[in-house]
Amino acid sequence: MTSAASSVTDWLDHSKIAVLNTKGGVGKTTTAMMLCTAAAKDSRSVELWDADPQGSASEWFYMAEEAGTPFPFQVATVNKITIKRRMSADLAIIDGPPGESSTIQAAVDAADLVLIPTTTSPLDVMRTWKTLETTGDKPTMVVLTSVKLGTKLLDQARAAFEDEGVYVAKSVIPHRESLKQSIGQLPLSMYGYDDLYHEIMTLMTDDYTAHTQAS
Ligand SMILES: Nc1ncnc2c1ncn2[C@@H]1O[C@H](COP(=O)(O)OP(=O)(O)OP(=O)(O)O)[C@@H](O)[C@H]1O
Ligand SMILES: [Mg+2]
Repeated sequence: MTSAASSVTDWLDHSKIAVLNTKGGVGKTTTAMMLCTAAAKDSRSVELWDADPQGSASEWFYMAEEAGTPFPFQVATVNKITIKRRMSADLAIIDGPPGESSTIQAAVDAADLVLIPTTTSPLDVMRTWKTLETTGDKPTMVVLTSVKLGTKLLDQARAAFEDEGVYVAKSVIPHRESLKQSIGQLPLSMYGYDDLYHEIMTLMTDDYTAHTQAS
């Protein structure tokens, strides 16, 4: 029998996190790239799986490499079939495409955890529900991105989800022009994504422990 500690490690070491929202421009690619960076900094073997036919994550990755500041992980292109495969890295973070497509459902099905980034704009919050409807029983977490700290919109967006029982990450990602300007380069700062990464890892470990204790 495996010990609880090594079972937790084993579970965490074969996980897929899908970053999804049918709404475009809400920070999916930025979130996937930054969470992979945070995982690599935490010495985890991690791959970014680019499931967006536009290839924004791959493009950003190769631009940074050409600029001589490579990201500390590898990128692979996946589609709705290959997204099911077992990864060679311990952790795969999937960057989903915008718009409605069968790839989104395939990513939900393949994922251990679905992360749904949205800005706090009421329109983006409203359009995020469509994606939340696709996740079913999968562990799901909304991440508030491009947040103007200290504004009513932040509290309103959080309440809109939490009032309906949707889990919202405690870590929020602030709006930063310098992050916007980091497209094509390795960002110089983590912009709150290291806190989000640790929050996710703690949650996944706690869920696993709760599950094993119940069974
Ligand atoms: N925290 C932030 N602060 C400022 N700008 C941000 C932040 N996060 C993302 N952006 C910017 O918002 C835009 C959209 O981000 P991103 O490409 O990550 O979204 P997306 O959901 O992947 O978009 P798409 O649906 O087109 O794939 C980009 O210009 C990006 O640089
Ligand atoms: Mg994108």
